[in-house]
Amino acid sequence: MSRSDDLLEFADTVKGFMPRDEGLALYRGALEHAGGDAGGTWLEVGAWCGKSAVYLGAAAEQNNAVLYSLDHHHGSEENQEGWEHFDYTLVDPVDGRLNTLPTWQRTIAEAALESTVIGLVGPSLVVAAHFAQPLDILFIDGGHGAEIAWADYEAWTPKVVVGGLLMIHDVFVNPVDGGRPPYEIYLAALESGTFVDLASEGSLRVLTRVG
Ligand SMILES: C[S@@+](CC[C@H](N)C(=O)[O-])C[C@H]1O[C@@H](n2cnc3c(N)ncnc32)[C@H](O)[C@@H]1O
Repeated sequence: MSRSDDLLEFADTVKGFMPRDEGLALYRGALEHAGGDAGGTWLEVGAWCGKSAVYLGAAAEQNNAVLYSLDHHHGSEENQEGWEHFDYTLVDPVDGRLNTLPTWQRTIAEAALESTVIGLVGPSLVVAAHFAQPLDILFIDGGHGAEIAWADYEAWTPKVVVGGLLMIHDVFVNPVDGGRPPYEIYLAALESGTFVDLASEGSLRVLTRVG
């Protein structure tokens, strides 16, 4: 098996919410976009335990790109105790808070991607305010509430270079399938005239910056 096959198989075993077909679309979208060019700065908002970071990292490694994987690692609202996606195994026994950072670190180490996937630990907007590097690929999969999803959209999408990729997860056209904010920011990206659709798989949308 090739290195990328190994990584894609490993990604399937990592805790997370991304279905395999969407993870593979993430990988392929990034790989095709990068097109073998060396280098590049990629960033994902929302790291959780590192599943999407392995899919994207597998593509980044082949292009000598670096993927920044950003999260405060304390989970979103729906990950907290009493909510739908709570996982008690991720609670830090010392302070009782959800903490996905140790699991994320183990994932990236096991994947041997530590020189390709670099963790950024902190609130998305604080990091965005101090992050000056233009982005060749941006993947938005952070907080899905209206306030944070819109704030992520406004803080991060202007950093995408013309010709760069914007990928958004959990875009549900039908409100019965999931919350609206990711769908709304996807529509805003299209309506801005700055991004156009390239591809989609499940709830993943892949756009490119044209202006
Ligand atoms: C859906 S999960 C990300 C899943 C990940 N992309 C994957 O596929 O494996 C969303 C993540 O966003 C993080 N998050 C939510 N709001 C955030 C914020 N304001 N700043 C940083 N991270 C945030 C949560 O801690 C959570 O880990």
